[in-house]
Amino acid sequence: MIAIAPSLLAADFTRLGEEVRSLENSGASMLHLDIMDGNFVPNISFGPDVVRQLRPISSLFFDVHLMISNAERYIDRFLEAGADGLTVHIEAVAHPEEVLKSIRAKGAKAAVSIKPATPSEVLKPLLPWLDMILVMSVEPGFGGQSFLPESVEKIKAVKAIVQESGCDILIQVDGGVNIHNIAQVSMAGADIAVAGTAVFGQKDRKEAIQSLQKITSEDSGS
Ligand code: DX5
Ligand code: ZN
Repeated sequence: MIAIAPSLLAADFTRLGEEVRSLENSGASMLHLDIMDGNFVPNISFGPDVVRQLRPISSLFFDVHLMISNAERYIDRFLEAGADGLTVHIEAVAHPEEVLKSIRAKGAKAAVSIKPATPSEVLKPLLPWLDMILVMSVEPGFGGQSFLPESVEKIKAVKAIVQESGCDILIQVDGGVNIHNIAQVSMAGADIAVAGTAVFGQKDRKEAIQSLQKITSEDSGS
């Protein structure tokens, strides 16, 4: 069954603590935290101090998605703030291998993300240093966008690369995932679906997560 990572970007920011608490016992596998700098992406979200303030109120794995230029400069700040895993964009760092190694050396999970126009082949040299690959299924920068259908082929291609390598790497998909496309996402090979609007847009988060997972388990027959 596919794991669900609710994206905080779609939460009510006037009640951030309550929103994070609403995920306790909801079946969420991790909390996805979207960091945007207004440079790598045309939007600004929040920084390490917000992550630090939320850390004591949740036991969820903090999955921090860095949509920022020069991500290498901020690794320590986010790890000190309480990130359990860091995802950097391959398009945003000069030496991805070095960044991934340093994330792992500091005891966190290391991941790389590719934008819709970035070919999956660029991942190949990085496989030994990856715990997770994030396939963007929208242009990064905003929540609530529509899932790009061509992402399904991209997920399959990434899955094939991972399987061929024999490495133990999770595949995460982010952007526009909802009850209408999650079965395809799952069958294409995704292990984790990020879901912002599809979780925080529903009053009952547990039910929202269950309905996303129910569809994938029905389709896969498991
Ligand atoms: C987009 C972000 C996503 C986004 C997901 O740049 O990386 O995590 O918030 O939100 P939805 O599920 O609403 O597309
Ligand atoms: Zn994200």
